[in-house]
Amino acid sequence: MQLQDNVAIVTGASSGIGKAIALRFVKEGGKVAIADINMEGAKAAVAEIEAMGGEAMAVEMDVTDEDAVMSGTDAVAERFGRIDTMVSNAGIQIVHPVEDFPYGEFRKMVDIHLGGAFLLTKACVKHMYPAKSGSLIYMGSVHSHRASALKSAYVAAKHGILGLSRVMAKEGAKHGVRSNVICPGFVKTPLVEKQIPEQAKDLGISEDEVVSRIMLGETVDTEFTTIEDVADVAVFLAGFKTNALTGQSVTVSHGWHMA
Ligand SMILES: NC(=O)c1ccc[n+]([C@@H]2O[C@H](COP(=O)([O-])OP(=O)(O)OC[C@H]3O[C@@H](n4cnc5c(N)ncnc54)[C@H](O)[C@@H]3O)[C@@H](O)[C@H]2O)c1
Repeated sequence: MQLQDNVAIVTGASSGIGKAIALRFVKEGGKVAIADINMEGAKAAVAEIEAMGGEAMAVEMDVTDEDAVMSGTDAVAERFGRIDTMVSNAGIQIVHPVEDFPYGEFRKMVDIHLGGAFLLTKACVKHMYPAKSGSLIYMGSVHSHRASALKSAYVAAKHGILGLSRVMAKEGAKHGVRSNVICPGFVKTPLVEKQIPEQAKDLGISEDEVVSRIMLGETVDTEFTTIEDVADVAVFLAGFKTNALTGQSVTVSHGWHMA
């Protein structure tokens, strides 16, 4: 039990990586808030956690809505007494070549990934600073370090998250708050499943080639990273005992990006 009584808020936890992190935190003794726009999925995740004997709450939250992020985060602190860990994870993917990228879709991507991370940070530090402790965890990507064609909005937003996290390492230090980024390679979740046919169409190649060349071509073993791999890193970052580990990004990508 590495996270006994640790209270975490995880955005985008109705599905994929966020849900795996939430379930894993509970297995490690934590209590979690499942914050998502998809309330059906959030309630299902809470039911799954309660069936395991764990404690969780569903919070309806669009991470781009400041009022919803502030009030949702306050509700978590009220229910569980504090917030120890933030996992800013909610995200979507939209891919186009720049010349065809509608500006509204570009802004939506940046608003969700980067704006959402900023708002959740603002909401969480309000509770962490007075407690003089906390762990901010951001879901970056290999695309926080590397670029891929068609992903201008995603790559720009994920690079921005690194910057935000590093600022928070500096601002949070005197309040006992650490800040780090997890950078996964490709993980087979609904977000990635959707991209395979889209990229095949945009790049004029087969779906198998998208997987073997575009997604896994630079890994050391052509393996997908799994939701469990990412959850392991999140547990490590949430449970780290001192402020020595801050301002870092941890890449979990089968060697696609080595840093
Ligand atoms: N899957 C991958 O290969 C991969 C790789 C690197 C990074 N990531 C990042 O991991 C995170 C989770 O992705 P996933 O693959 O688990 O995707 P997913 O589609 O399985 O889950 C994303 C979740 O975010 C929620 N969400 C979307 N917009 C939201 C909003 N405005 N407010 C609140 N919730 C919202 C969705 O409802 C969903 O539950 C994303 O930030 C993504 O960029 C994913």
